[in-house]
Amino acid sequence: MEIIIQPSKQAASITAARVVARLVREKPRAVLGLATGSTPLPLYHELIRMHQEEGLDFSEVTSFNLDEYVGLEAKHEQSYHSFMWQNFFRHINIDPDRVYIPDGMTTNVVASCATYERAIVDAGGIDLQILGIGSDGHIGFNEPTSSFASRTRIKTLTQETVVDNARFFDDDESQVPRHCITMGIGTIMDARSNIMLAFGDGKAEAIAAMVEGPVAAMVPASILQHHQNAKVFIDDCAASQLKLADYYRWVYAGKPEWQQDA
Ligand code: PGA
Repeated sequence: MEIIIQPSKQAASITAARVVARLVREKPRAVLGLATGSTPLPLYHELIRMHQEEGLDFSEVTSFNLDEYVGLEAKHEQSYHSFMWQNFFRHINIDPDRVYIPDGMTTNVVASCATYERAIVDAGGIDLQILGIGSDGHIGFNEPTSSFASRTRIKTLTQETVVDNARFFDDDESQVPRHCITMGIGTIMDARSNIMLAFGDGKAEAIAAMVEGPVAAMVPASILQHHQNAKVFIDDCAASQLKLADYYRWVYAGKPEWQQDA
């Protein structure tokens, strides 16, 4: 795991965006795994800027989103379909036919999840997966004790996640769906690279458990310790509980030129 600590979430997001942009330039048909939530917004903002000002081309990119709430219509303003179109897709030149988001309204969850997994394989597999982390250590909506071998499936949110996400639903927990469809941890681990973003004091404990704690199903994100290419972009606040924070800063400061943005 490579830990990249930056003074602010803007700085961390701009650094992460360069990694995404480099992939898209080198491989125009790249397959991206995308995340929702507050965390990736500055990253999407920077990618939109790169598209608009530098011509970063998404026309041949395929994307797969991590998750979606069960029971919310795609057009519901808090569905992850709406989130992605609102905050990213409508500002870039991605082909709508290459956008995949789990179907939270499916009447056949098992078949729909299997189809999603097959679509990822048919697209050639995910080159780069963007991830946030829950305060309980989840990735996607793989809550604590999720199997490390899990694939796309239905899950029940923890109460902690329901409380965390109530801010998107008028601070009314009763409006937050209880179920979701999420890529599994096995699906995420199949991505050729992973980029985790986390900002603020509220993520410090989860980040420390993920990076420096034991690999355990109680902290789903800790499985990234076993990934060959996982980068963690965090701000000083999210890094505040890392024992080896100074070491990670030292490593990054000494990174050879040819490895930048790689
Ligand atoms: P957040 O969510 O970006 O809204 O904090 C992250 C997550 O739950 O994965």
